[in-house]
Amino acid sequence: MTSQKHKPIRKAVFPVAGLGTRFLPATKAIPKELLPVVDRPLIQYAVDEAREAGIEQLIFVTGRGKTAIVEHFDTAYELETTLQERGKSLDVLEPTRVLPGNLVTVRQQVPMGLGHAIWCARAIVGEEPFAIFLPDELMIGTPGCMKQMVDAYNQVGGNLISVLEVPREDVSSYGVIAPGAKAGDGLTEVTGLVEKPPVEQAPSNLILSGRYILQPEVMRVLENQEKGAGGEIQLTDAMAQMIGEQAFHAVTFAGKRYDCGSKTGFIEATLALALEREDMGAEVREIAKRLLGS
Ligand code: UTP
Repeated sequence: MTSQKHKPIRKAVFPVAGLGTRFLPATKAIPKELLPVVDRPLIQYAVDEAREAGIEQLIFVTGRGKTAIVEHFDTAYELETTLQERGKSLDVLEPTRVLPGNLVTVRQQVPMGLGHAIWCARAIVGEEPFAIFLPDELMIGTPGCMKQMVDAYNQVGGNLISVLEVPREDVSSYGVIAPGAKAGDGLTEVTGLVEKPPVEQAPSNLILSGRYILQPEVMRVLENQEKGAGGEIQLTDAMAQMIGEQAFHAVTFAGKRYDCGSKTGFIEATLALALEREDMGAEVREIAKRLLGS
C-alpha cells in the first residue's frame, strides 16, 4: 500500500452566490456562472477542471436566483427522451452528469463577500483540505490549473494559491501576493497577501487568479473575519492571517487565463476558444477578418 504524505484534495467549493452586477441586465434572471463561452456555461469549465484534478465532491455556495446552476447538473428526462426519439446522441450531456450524492449545495443568503461564501461551506468541508474555484476565472491549459496545483500540493502540502502576472497599474483590482523564496518550477513561497492594494503599496504584480487549495483552519479564521476591501468579508484577509502559522505557496499556472467576470475578458475568451475549435475555428477566423477588415 502506498502512503500519501498529504491528505488528498477530494472536495471543491464553488462560490456562485454573487450578484454579477457587471453583466446586468444579462444576469438579472440568469446566473453569471451560466453564461456560455461558445457552448458551455462557465460553471461547466470549472467543474471539468475539478474532475480532471481528481476532485469528487462539488460544493456549490448558491444564493437567490441561482437554482438553474444546480439544474444544469441534474438529469433532464424530457430532454433526454426527446433527443433519443429523434435519434440524437446524448454524449453532449455527459459532462453535466454527477454521481448521485456528489453535488452538495449550501446557501449564502446575503452576498457578503467571497470569504463569507467560503465560510458558508464549513460544515460540508469538515476537517480536510479543499479546493476553491471562482468560475468566472476561466483557466485553459493542459493539464488544467487545478491539476497543476494538486501536483504541487502533493510535493509541498499546506496552502496553495494560483497567481498570474499583470501590469503593475492593474493590481488594485485584485488580491496581490508578496512573493518569497522560489520553491520549484512555477512555485514560490508567499510571505504576505493583500486585497485590492493601491498601486504604490502593492507588494508585487502577482495577482490571485481564482484557484486555491486551503487547509480547513481557514474556516476558523473566517468565523471572526471583519469586513475588508469593498465592505466585504475577504478570503484574502483570512489567508493573510494564516501566513506564518501555515505554509503558503503560489503556483504560476502554465496556461491561459480569461477574466470572464469582465465583459472584455468574456469576449476574449469566447473568441479565443471559438478560434481553437475544430468545428468552427476556420469560419470564426473569416468572420473576425471580415469584421476587422478594410
Ligand atoms: P465577484 O467578485 O466576481 O462578484 O465574485 P460577483 O457578484 O459575481 O460579480 P460583480 O463583481 O458584481 O460583477 C467572484 C466569485 O465569488 C462569488 C461570485 O458568485 C463569483 O463566482 N461570490 C462573491 C459569492 O459567492 N458570494 C459573495 O458574497 C461574493
